[in-house]
Amino acid sequence: PVARTADLLAAAVAEGRGLPAFNVITLEHAEAIAAGAELAGSPVVLQISQNAVAYHGGRLLPLARACAEVAAAARVPVSLHLDHVEDFDLLRASAAAGFSSAMYDASTLPHAENVKRTAEAADWAHRHGLHLEAELGRVGGKDGEPPLSPHAPGARTDPAEAARYVAETGVDALAVAVGSSHAMTTRTALLDHDLIRRLAEAVPVPLVLHGSSGVADDELSAGIAAGLVKVNIGTALNTAFTPVVRQRLAEDPAGTDPRKYLAPARAAMTETVARLAAVVAGSRSG
Ligand code: G3H
Ligand code: ZN
Repeated sequence: PVARTADLLAAAVAEGRGLPAFNVITLEHAEAIAAGAELAGSPVVLQISQNAVAYHGGRLLPLARACAEVAAAARVPVSLHLDHVEDFDLLRASAAAGFSSAMYDASTLPHAENVKRTAEAADWAHRHGLHLEAELGRVGGKDGEPPLSPHAPGARTDPAEAARYVAETGVDALAVAVGSSHAMTTRTALLDHDLIRRLAEAVPVPLVLHGSSGVADDELSAGIAAGLVKVNIGTALNTAFTPVVRQRLAEDPAGTDPRKYLAPARAAMTETVARLAAVVAGSRSG
């Protein structure tokens, strides 16, 4: 059934486990995520990013409605989350499109601008019943240097700055830079466990790990034990999906029915979701 991200997060925190969140690009992603979460017996967040909306011609509703139907039919609780939104109009559109949460991403802006815009986004979200996640930018960048992406290798979130940012913006969850990096196809990122512990102590809202595809199972478990709650996974699904498509097409060069290669690719994605959801939801905090 459809759940609210805030409730899934609260339950994960209360039970001391992680909450897996997977990125949707196509209908097959949504189906694989729901099926994989059912196999793992885990609640799950279906995330649609602004980039995925752009891929669908800038239209939010077709994919959002498909995700809402998939969520409603699932045997585990599934929430809808709008991910990495920079466009305020898209954020505004999410409330009527079935989303219960969004991540407003002003992380590449100068810090003061990030605080101002994120506070506006959080205020808007709360007035419309949405839970807002945000990301603290310019982490690790020294004065006068160009801003460092929060998920560049080596970027780190400072606990005192993070606490101040959450207080100033009123966000409900915070994405932190603790060693992961987006779009990795190898699982070699190492998390800073001590920093995660200090962030969890300093920040009163759940911590979110982005770029989790590059983090191995034991590192994910250790990160959750140290205080991470929501774990965002995107690339790993495509790393499972695309080689199967490639292989099937090579095996049948004259074939034209997309179901012939999409079905096994979706099954591979389901397996990956099930494995990762079990790791995330099965990891205990503390
Ligand atoms: O917000 C989405 C996640 O950060 C996905 O990152 O594709 O590197 O797993 P990933
Ligand atoms: Zn991300």
